[in-house]
Amino acid sequence: MMKLLSTLFLLLFQTTVSFAQRLEKSPAFLGEKHAMQQVNTASRFLLLPIEESQDNAHISILRDNQVVKQLNCRLAVNNVDYYVPLDLADFSGKPILLDIFFNGERSRGDAIKNFACWQNINYSDTFDTANREKFRPVYHHTPVWGWMNDPNGMFYKDGVWHLYFQHNPYGSQWENMTWGHSISRDLVHWTFEGNAIVPDGLGTIFSGSCVVDKNNTAGFGKNAIVALYTTAGASQTQSLAYSTDDGKTFTKYEANPILTDEIPDFRDPNMFWNDEIGAWNLLLAAGQEMKIYSSKNLKDWKYESSFGHGYGNHDGVWECPDLMRLPVDGTNEQKWVLICNINPGGPFGGSATQYFVGNFDGHRFVCDSEPQVTKWMDYGKDHYAAVSFSNAPDGRHVALAWMSNWQYANQVPTLQFRSANSIPRDLTLFTDGAETWLASTPSPEMLGVRGAKVRNITPSCEVVMNLKTDATLTLRNARGEEVVMKYDAGAQTFSMDRTRSGQTDFSSNFTAVTVAPTHGRLTTLRLFIDRCSVEAFDADGKMAMSNLVFPSEPYNRLIVRSKNKVNTTIYSIY
Ligand code: FRU
Repeated sequence: MMKLLSTLFLLLFQTTVSFAQRLEKSPAFLGEKHAMQQVNTASRFLLLPIEESQDNAHISILRDNQVVKQLNCRLAVNNVDYYVPLDLADFSGKPILLDIFFNGERSRGDAIKNFACWQNINYSDTFDTANREKFRPVYHHTPVWGWMNDPNGMFYKDGVWHLYFQHNPYGSQWENMTWGHSISRDLVHWTFEGNAIVPDGLGTIFSGSCVVDKNNTAGFGKNAIVALYTTAGASQTQSLAYSTDDGKTFTKYEANPILTDEIPDFRDPNMFWNDEIGAWNLLLAAGQEMKIYSSKNLKDWKYESSFGHGYGNHDGVWECPDLMRLPVDGTNEQKWVLICNINPGGPFGGSATQYFVGNFDGHRFVCDSEPQVTKWMDYGKDHYAAVSFSNAPDGRHVALAWMSNWQYANQVPTLQFRSANSIPRDLTLFTDGAETWLASTPSPEMLGVRGAKVRNITPSCEVVMNLKTDATLTLRNARGEEVVMKYDAGAQTFSMDRTRSGQTDFSSNFTAVTVAPTHGRLTTLRLFIDRCSVEAFDADGKMAMSNLVFPSEPYNRLIVRSKNKVNTTIYSIY
């Protein structure tokens, strides 16, 4: 009894100590859609109550009568779904004013002064990021809170992999694009380091890349990290920022934007050092083409040429390019690969990653294939914005993709966070017939995180199977929800059917059967299962397929049907 009482007391005490505090002043209501709220900045955070189904409210934050920050968030009107933190440390200890405009039509009953946000907006010295979501992956990178899309500015330096990402710190839907920053020593376990590049007067911060400027070509210091990203304001322009503390904090270049164009879709700069010309190269997605530039100093870019007209798939906007030279497996040859993410236009609808193999002389990319040939990097529905790490060790080219699809990314059934990245993949090339193809092999780091061998499927595990001939593999839970995979040795295809995989009703575009060519025999299959995803690979990378699934309880059985014996090993991964 005493123990129970003391536990109760402790709980109460903890709750009171960390309990959020009410604001001192009531808001001023200035019209049906306009309010102002004064806030002191003595606490660390202001917790903003969010209701996902509301329209975005626009908040201008004033300090000393000047607008110092603007953001959009779905402030709660009826109910609070979750909270997001406004970091008050950003305002130098001075009081601030929130100037709030609500958007959207409302019924006359819901007068602004009754909105749920006023009762729930609070000060707090802590922000609770404990995981409360059953679909949060265990060994995939996710944002600690809020929305995430494309991986950005990825680089490796001194044993640390840096991953920036399109982050909305003020909600779990796309908005307020900011570069979040996570780091890892093994490409699997990530630590969130805070938001590194935040919106400014030129716009929100869209996708881009980072390089390690080893020879101080830009003049920001030897080994400075230089970032190039799209500032998305009234127009999309390219801006530069640099870091002299290994990517933790960035200083924006004073003469931004450094590159402009008349074309409205002009974004996602991806740059790399090209030894062959002793200069930097840059690719930019421009409508349905990739524009190629060169530079000696990362600030002044010379237009060289464009690639893409008439080549590959053009059913959507071209985005997030990457260009790299890769070895062709089993030869001494190397070829260039131009990665081109496209939305929509993917093989199963929505967004996907196509690529072109060819030659690049620092000025022009020449594709080896006929213009009508389209090649896909991953044959699932959830592989987008794939780009590679800069400066990876041992000549490696390691890519990560955003594991979602623009058709339904904002609707997937999570709240505290939205979206994960794929597992890391090492890229090489292989030949099949007259063509050269991109191989995506699970990075060797994935072997290092294999845990104990287990008898049955667990919510986060890897399954390794030796397939000799046709096979049907079914992941199933007690409710009969299932993912059905089929290997057809004759047709040389592998397919995944997620029609009855669990929760699918959040979007009519979610149910799908995805089919991949296996380019010869699929001997060893590797399946990576992690709470809300299944990624299937041929062990040599000749087939990759990434799909989300939302089972109401984890799959706990793997049913294998094949004429031949299939050796199956399951490793748990934590
Ligand atoms: C791709 C993309 C990029 C853009 C970013 C904005 O998913 O549309 O082209 O920079 O997302 O968040």
